Amino acid sequence: MCGIIAYKGPKDAIEIVLKGLQQLEYRGYDSWGIGVKTQAGLDVFKKTGQIGKVNRSDIHLPESTIAIGHTRWATHGGVTETNAHPHQSPNKDIVVVHNGIVENFEELALHLSTPRVSETDTEIIAHLISQNMQQGFAHAVRETAKKLQGKSGFVAINKDTDEIAAVRSGSPLIVGIGENEYFIASDVTAFLQHTKKVMYLDNNEMVVINDAPHFYDADGKEVQKRIVDIDWEAGTSEKGDHAHYLIKEIMDQKHTIMAATNQDEEKLKRVADEIRNAYGTFLVGCGTAGKVCQTSEYFFSSIAHKHINAVVGSEFSNYHHYLTDKTLMIPVSQSGETMDVLDAMEIAKKKGVKIISLINVVGSTMMRESDDYFNVNAGVEKAVVSTKATTAQLSVLYLLAHAVAGTLQEGKSQLMNTASAVTDMLNPRYDARIRDLAQLLKGREDVIIIGRGANYPIALEAAIKLMEASYVHAQGFAGGELKHGPIALIEPGTPVIVLVNNDENKEATISNAKEVQSRGGVIIGVAPENNPAFSHWIKVPDVGDAAPIVNIIPMQMLAYHLAVLRGIDPDKPRNLAKSVTVK
Ligand code: M6R
Repeated sequence: MCGIIAYKGPKDAIEIVLKGLQQLEYRGYDSWGIGVKTQAGLDVFKKTGQIGKVNRSDIHLPESTIAIGHTRWATHGGVTETNAHPHQSPNKDIVVVHNGIVENFEELALHLSTPRVSETDTEIIAHLISQNMQQGFAHAVRETAKKLQGKSGFVAINKDTDEIAAVRSGSPLIVGIGENEYFIASDVTAFLQHTKKVMYLDNNEMVVINDAPHFYDADGKEVQKRIVDIDWEAGTSEKGDHAHYLIKEIMDQKHTIMAATNQDEEKLKRVADEIRNAYGTFLVGCGTAGKVCQTSEYFFSSIAHKHINAVVGSEFSNYHHYLTDKTLMIPVSQSGETMDVLDAMEIAKKKGVKIISLINVVGSTMMRESDDYFNVNAGVEKAVVSTKATTAQLSVLYLLAHAVAGTLQEGKSQLMNTASAVTDMLNPRYDARIRDLAQLLKGREDVIIIGRGANYPIALEAAIKLMEASYVHAQGFAGGELKHGPIALIEPGTPVIVLVNNDENKEATISNAKEVQSRGGVIIGVAPENNPAFSHWIKVPDVGDAAPIVNIIPMQMLAYHLAVLRGIDPDKPRNLAKSVTVK
């Protein structure tokens, strides 16, 4: 949450920081700001609202070669210009941008010589650096960082030197190395168009960029770092001819399921052995990634007859009693920065648990904190509403379940069939069909979604899609649970989406659909074949046990079209951010 970018180099720093913030906006978009260092000193420019369409000429700051910027997802203090970052020290000798939370900011504020002007926890950092400048900027930054509690990362500039300093204490910061130019950002996408060479800042480390980046540990000892090449194309993060990133990324699934299939078979078999031999395997994720974990629990059960525990990241601490050095943890995360999952990994590590993660962002904290990892290869996912990363994660876990079952080749060929079926499915006629259905649901405030087996967590995931993209209240249930309470919600016209496959759950799911139908509910069936119980039918290809991977796609499309029809920006739903880096 919150995006940071800093630049030092010969080019127009404001232009570079502005473009970087526009790339980072998915991390938070309630306000933004840029701070610069010029001959005359430090200056800042801040605004509430999204940075999306702002031009260089809109930013009233003097030219500079050193700038820092921030796009905000508010934690402390409302959405106002005063609370927007960057924050300044009272005498304006320090400017700071920050991501994360300073937990002890109220206590620290008691010792300030000048009261804060904002309600933020961040402002305290600027005050403290300014108060500690006697032994220089780098020293002041280090001493300030030592006083801060909680997980965060900040970047600071000062009026006297041409240095940029940054400290990472739990929130990601990556240094980009260009030709005589340097970047610091929360995420490589902010500077990918300028350089693919990065150096990673580890936790509790500080980097000071003057002539070049110098890294220091928490005691101030200089540490050596490697330059790593990131193999991500900037182009994959552009939306091209599509109206929104969300629909672009939905359509990307024509290729990304195939790309996810491209895994090292030896590694899959090795990890399959780890799963077979582990005294308990935990799949851990949040939000949509959590639903991927739940769905995969069914994959492992039905394909490999192996029980795996799916646990929501924020609940994992309640399972610590079961952890030993023979436990295996598989964290699943698109961003690789979700705080609840990183915290779960910390708990697991203390018990000696082996960690093999599924990541999509190369170089993310999760990737680097894991013993091993699978890259799900979905490419840059920008829309807050996760789509292609979801099906890529499902694909890799599907393969893994087959590897555990000893049927990896069978799984792989089934997945390749699925990938080509999705490519066929995602055509303009199909899109138009879903748009028509969205038209039908546009005015509804409640939608119920049901499924059995692996379609149950897919129903839960479909509900997340509809809620976050279109603000329609949607709720997923296991088909069999309807009669235990939720059926009371059905009245004439209530839309109920029913996910059905040609499997052992088919008959029972259709019975549930009929129970709803006889109470006046309008059934929208998502299935390979039509059924008299359906008022509307969304056809999906029959891909056998890989069905959850295709079933979620029309639900993603429905969420997208509903958002557009309801006048909502599908890429930036209210109150959300792409990477949830706070607790
Ligand atoms: O980056 P992660 O996969 O760890 O993110 C987890 C959730 O925050 C994320 O899936 C969230 O639920 C999305 N908005 C869903 O579309």
